[in-house]
Amino acid sequence: MSLAGLVGAATLGPVWMFGVEPRWVDWTTQDLIVGGLPNRLHGARMLHLSDIHASAAVPLDFVARVVDRINLNPPDLLVITGDLVTEDRSYIAGITELLGRIEARLGRFAILGNHDYWTDGPAVSRALERHGVHHLRNESAWVGGPGGLRLVGVDDHWTGNDDLEAAMAGVGQEEAQILLMHSPDLIVPASKARVPFALCGHTHGGQVRLPWYGALVTPSALGYQQGTYRHRGTQMYVNRGLGTLDLKVRLNCRPEVHEVRLISP
Ligand SMILES: [Fe+2]
Repeated sequence: MSLAGLVGAATLGPVWMFGVEPRWVDWTTQDLIVGGLPNRLHGARMLHLSDIHASAAVPLDFVARVVDRINLNPPDLLVITGDLVTEDRSYIAGITELLGRIEARLGRFAILGNHDYWTDGPAVSRALERHGVHHLRNESAWVGGPGGLRLVGVDDHWTGNDDLEAAMAGVGQEEAQILLMHSPDLIVPASKARVPFALCGHTHGGQVRLPWYGALVTPSALGYQQGTYRHRGTQMYVNRGLGTLDLKVRLNCRPEVHEVRLISP
């Protein structure tokens, strides 16, 4: 590389990593065949947000722009897999109010992540409920009425709040079901519980991904990073998340809004 090229890369690289890519949202989609899904839910669009990390690094006006774009073509169902905030309680009211603004005729559901608990889990939970987002705390809920889709939410694993057995209580093997969890490492107990499909986040995809190598580091003991994985009979999607930790940096790892289109077999 020439000197001019090196100077250019040294100048533009940081501008890209710290200024451009953290706000360049990737809108990803996936079709998912859900065993037992009734015809009335065929084609329903489930929007999946994760790891928003509202904070000085991820201001509410950025999230508000994403919410406005979502509402241009509202999903049928909204699910959020934790880490709404990073560590600052003052963001709880604003972020939950924004999430409550998302239109979703079949409902809005969330589980919490480790950062929510480190900030103030009960306060995040109460604020979500106040804004019409149901916190699934080791429990399940019917979407589209009884016999529709069982949305199961297991609480955060890192802070020891998870109880998958309680979350799965009463869920029949033949029922259409999707598990929400924060950490991808829960795929191992989820597969033992014969969960067919799980959505999660937590890793942020690593935030910095080197070409031909992948993430430098992720908070997954089992090495999960981003995208689709399978463990035994369980398929899982790891969302890269919308926000970042305090260091607002992303490289080859754009923030993500994921949509799952539910297909009846
Ligand atoms: Fe996170």
